[in-house]
Amino acid sequence: MENETFCSRSREDTYNFASRMAQSAKPGDIICLTGGLGSGKTVFAKGFAAGLGVAREVVSPTFTMLIEYPIGRMPGKADEPYRVAAPGGIDETGSMDAPGSMAGPGSMAAPGRVAGRPPEAAAAQRFPLYHFDVYRLGERPNDSAAVLRFEDIGGVEYLFGDGVCLIEWAEIIGPAIPEGALWVEIKRCAGDDNEREIAVRRE
Ligand SMILES: Nc1ncnc2c1ncn2[C@@H]1O[C@H](COP(=O)(O)OP(=O)(O)OP(=O)(O)O)[C@@H](O)[C@H]1O
Ligand SMILES: [Mg+2]
Repeated sequence: MENETFCSRSREDTYNFASRMAQSAKPGDIICLTGGLGSGKTVFAKGFAAGLGVAREVVSPTFTMLIEYPIGRMPGKADEPYRVAAPGGIDETGSMDAPGSMAGPGSMAAPGRVAGRPPEAAAAQRFPLYHFDVYRLGERPNDSAAVLRFEDIGGVEYLFGDGVCLIEWAEIIGPAIPEGALWVEIKRCAGDDNEREIAVRRE
């Protein structure tokens, strides 16, 4: 599913497109989501997570910057994803004080398999999903201050980690994204509130 353009006519179209794309995802993949406010990046992320087999509800990480969905389910925490935010990193108002550091990939989890309903998706989730939203890190595409902040709080470690990274507003930290990432641009289409053009390319 590389270098293709898809016309989505509904939220469900976008969700299903992303879910299909996830079926061929491998550890180490980096999916960069771009597109304006409300274009559908989080909808895409939810569909992608479902396609991977993430059992928990996927929510927007805007205020936490990173939510880690470990492999399978968490004991006793079936509905709670991990929020891996830097303490003192970004607060709810979006301002950033002295950045802390993120825990590092996998450090929150000792997941194991837990009895329960298997994920709806065809594939059982075999690797963690790291869902980022770096909107609050910077001001513009390729923002060097944002790249420094991302590095300072340990973001790069996840990019070279053992899971799949999905990054909303990835263009803000453009120079931090390794070559070979998949860029997914979601654009609103004029005239129809529910139509989006989704362009996928490897860079
Ligand atoms: N074809 C479509 N694809 C995706 N979402 C759509 C589509 N048509 C309408 N929508 C609606 O657009 C909104 C997209 O919201 P979403 O949170 O995914 O955007 P976002 O790009 O993540 O925004 P933000 O940058 O604020 O995080 C949802 O309310 C969704 O129902
Ligand atoms: Mg979003």
